[in-house]
Amino acid sequence: MIDLLQSLKLIPIVSLDEPDDAEPLVDALCAGGLPVAEITLRTDRAMDVIRRLHHRDEFLLGAGTVHSAEQAQEAVEAGAHFIVTPGFNPRTVVWCLENDVPIFPGVATPTDLEMALEHNIEVVKFFPAETLGGVNALKAFSGPYHNIRFIPTGGINASNLSYYLALSNVFACGGSWMVEVDNWDQTALLTAQAVELINDLT
Ligand code: 3PG
Repeated sequence: MIDLLQSLKLIPIVSLDEPDDAEPLVDALCAGGLPVAEITLRTDRAMDVIRRLHHRDEFLLGAGTVHSAEQAQEAVEAGAHFIVTPGFNPRTVVWCLENDVPIFPGVATPTDLEMALEHNIEVVKFFPAETLGGVNALKAFSGPYHNIRFIPTGGINASNLSYYLALSNVFACGGSWMVEVDNWDQTALLTAQAVELINDLT
């Protein structure tokens, strides 16, 4: 799973409140060439959205904005393959590690990165990336934290994606710009354009 995620290089981040939108979303992302999404738990029915996608074996399904071990467990039971958290919550991290669930905890500072090292976490989310210094901050982290790879998220779009992916300590990027809920043709188009950008880099 980790290898697939790394090869895709981009994780669409999506908030959906309507479970009926789940399948059209996945169809659009797959049509654009990105069979992966982080479904954020920011809406009342986000867990139902994840549940709807349980059977889509070809799709890498993540749950994001997870704030507790209990939410992580519920998301995994609903069908999530991996967990993403906006900040570093040791209890959530430990639950995922003990249950062999891939987790990408959020970090913003060197102190957070020390916590990641303490828990043997090698891939973290860097959030909110652009606000926290973006590419320059990641370059600065690459010295003292050379074993850690990042998923920068927050403020990333088609115009700055390539600067992030050019960094050797960037595992993948996260972003919401390619998803336009209720305009699935446009979502497929923006996704395909993002995939083209990524392919041009390699
Ligand atoms: C996140 O959930 O990680 C961010 O809100 C996504 O940021 P973006 O909307 O700027 O891509």
